[in-house]
Amino acid sequence: MSTQSGKFGVRRFMKEQKAVLPYPDRPLNGLTVLVTGANTGVGLEAARHVVRLNAANLILAVRSTTKGEAAREDLMKSCPQSTTNISIYSVDYCSFASVKSFAEKIINEVPKLDIAILNAGLNAPEWRVTGDGWEEVLQVNVLSTTYLALLLLPKIRESYNKSADHMPALVVVTSDTHYVSSFKQKKAADQKLGILNAMNDKAISDGFDKYPTSKLLEVYIVRQLANWVDRNMQGEVIVTCVNPGLCHSDLNRNSGLVYYGLEFFKWVIARTSEVGSRNYMWAALAGRQAHGQYVGSCEVQKPAVLVTSEEGERLAIKVYQEVGQVLTALDGGVEQYFA
Ligand SMILES: NC(=O)c1ccc[n+]([C@@H]2O[C@H](COP(=O)([O-])OP(=O)(O)OC[C@H]3O[C@@H](n4cnc5c(N)ncnc54)[C@H](OP(=O)(O)O)[C@@H]3O)[C@@H](O)[C@H]2O)c1
Repeated sequence: MSTQSGKFGVRRFMKEQKAVLPYPDRPLNGLTVLVTGANTGVGLEAARHVVRLNAANLILAVRSTTKGEAAREDLMKSCPQSTTNISIYSVDYCSFASVKSFAEKIINEVPKLDIAILNAGLNAPEWRVTGDGWEEVLQVNVLSTTYLALLLLPKIRESYNKSADHMPALVVVTSDTHYVSSFKQKKAADQKLGILNAMNDKAISDGFDKYPTSKLLEVYIVRQLANWVDRNMQGEVIVTCVNPGLCHSDLNRNSGLVYYGLEFFKWVIARTSEVGSRNYMWAALAGRQAHGQYVGSCEVQKPAVLVTSEEGERLAIKVYQEVGQVLTALDGGVEQYFA
């Protein structure tokens, strides 16, 4: 484990942004890898590593199949020697029904799944509500990401083979912005309202805190889920979360005028999406050391104090319970994860 503390200051951020990260070189022969949000940004570059490293199958999970086709063409052009079979599936995280139908297709149509990288994510400071009635960032980054993780977990576990030199892995993409979440909705943990309902309340929402807080919740959920996997699946799937670092991508396309400030900042210090995606490959192949952990700069790091402190442990349990209530009401099939 890295000696990083759970504090995230400017100096540490700058140092990490400039770090030289190891180029992924471990062959993926025989493996099936799924990447959500794989048509652009960091997800697309992770997909490129998967193709270059010659995985047997790559599943591009995308919101628009037209964008998926363009991504497939781009990947095949850049890795002409690869024998990876690339398939495209559509999924929209703004709809639980779409997530469920996508997961069912994967479970029924794909012979096996070794690695799932849940990368699709959104930063939208404006208040927008999905057809399912949830604030969009909360649904996409937290509820749908968790729902998909739970639906795919048994399928990933089927790939476990004691004598294989790799572990099946579920990788959830979080962010170093979780260190700066103010998480003011944590006050609602002990109130009838609860954390998720507080996050779903426009009157107390802070547009620019929605994204960091959603990423903090992902760290909580991954830690709880990893414990569940240890208790109920003998630890046969690695469940981990990863931060790509600040990267050039389309992530801030919804940030209004702030976009220009962010882009200037990025121009000075951001990694390319390719460099950011090295973290995904590291997390996916790191094995037991990454289980239940937060990965950044291709190493296991300490997440925020709001995760590791006693208060953080308590909040993680509460968040996990609340997410359980929402998802179980939606789909009794995931109840086992919250029993
Ligand atoms: N870039 C950074 O600096 C940075 C830093 C830390 C963490 N991250 C995390 O890295 C991940 C990838 O971000 P990125 O920077 O590559 O951003 P990006 O270029 O905006 O890519 C995001 C991907 O997520 C997809 N997506 C968004 N909403 C979706 C929905 N409702 N259903 C299905 N897919 C959806 C997008 O699809 P469309 O193209 O169809 O919109 C796109 O493929 C995110 O989880 C982000 O939070 C990024």
